[in-house]
Amino acid sequence: LLGRDGYSAKASDIFMCGGASSGVNTLLHIICADENTGILIPIPQYPLYTATLSLLGAKCVPYYLDSKEGWSVDVGTVKDAYENATARDIDVRAIVVINPGNPTGAVLSEKNIKGIIDYAREKRLVIIADEVYQRNVFTKEFHSFKKVLCSMQATDPEKFQHIELASLHSVSKGLIGECGHRGGFFELVGFDPRVQAEIYKFISIMLCPSVIGQCLVSLMVNPPQEGDLSYDQFEEESMAILEDMKNRARTLHGVFSREGFECNVPEGSMYLFPSVKIPPKAAQAAALEGRSPDEFYCLKLLEATGVCVVPGSGFGQMEGSYNFRTTFLAQGTEWADRIVSFHRRFMDQY
Ligand SMILES: Cc1ncc(COP(=O)(O)O)c(C=O)c1O
Repeated sequence: LLGRDGYSAKASDIFMCGGASSGVNTLLHIICADENTGILIPIPQYPLYTATLSLLGAKCVPYYLDSKEGWSVDVGTVKDAYENATARDIDVRAIVVINPGNPTGAVLSEKNIKGIIDYAREKRLVIIADEVYQRNVFTKEFHSFKKVLCSMQATDPEKFQHIELASLHSVSKGLIGECGHRGGFFELVGFDPRVQAEIYKFISIMLCPSVIGQCLVSLMVNPPQEGDLSYDQFEEESMAILEDMKNRARTLHGVFSREGFECNVPEGSMYLFPSVKIPPKAAQAAALEGRSPDEFYCLKLLEATGVCVVPGSGFGQMEGSYNFRTTFLAQGTEWADRIVSFHRRFMDQY
């Protein structure tokens, strides 16, 4: 973390967990008191958040991300969501930010992160920064919330001293990509020691995450250093993996820049989240099958091409827009053209 941000971290503020999912579960368990607790969640979101809140009986307070604004976080929209919720007596306690985004593929600018931190300070919200895709960044620089917060604290220590930030990382993504081994950690910054003690107690119930998961975390945070025997090979292989993903992302983006789709330039994570225009006749056919239009489209695509994408309704999407999430993890790009010819046939049919 010192190497990443230029700011050191204390071991006692770092909690190992069986993947980020288990970390989020711990944090939300501690933060949510009852059905009146609200947590600000970006929409579209990775559904871990709404699912965990449902289990806990707490409330999701959605704030919408706009593809026209590059899926960045509009602090005005967050403010509206917060005020709407508090007007209904919901006790809003935290804001979740997923950066780089799943399913959006967006990477937040430093300015955007500063705005979020400042708003969290104003409303005394805990920031849960889901940064599991921090190594999957293509066109922009990744700024961790911790680094931006520390820089704000350095310029105005008094104003920013009471911010509580939890930042999550995982071995599931990036270059390691070992989601089956379940390894990750979260770092707490500025937490009230009494709350941190509760988190420690809660996480201790599970004794410890799997040893292999912990080994992988150790490898992830301690990569070979210059002068080490394996350094050159590690750098070469890492760059090749990232370059490969970047190229496939570019190719897929080319597909979704054609007529019928709208898609932002991929900046990070492993996904593209294009919107697709679905004609009314297809929407009617979907309704007859009891499906949403985007689900119908994705199933037809799967049946026709074998390409499996996830309907936008699984992540949440703006009213009236239809999206799907696709990933550029699969090898090769020849399958991308199958999507284009399917789309043409689908539009002809409907
Ligand atoms: C944004 C985000 N957060 C958390 C997770 C869960 O990560 P883990 O496998 O470490 O539990 C995922 C997995 O896809 C994700 O996309």
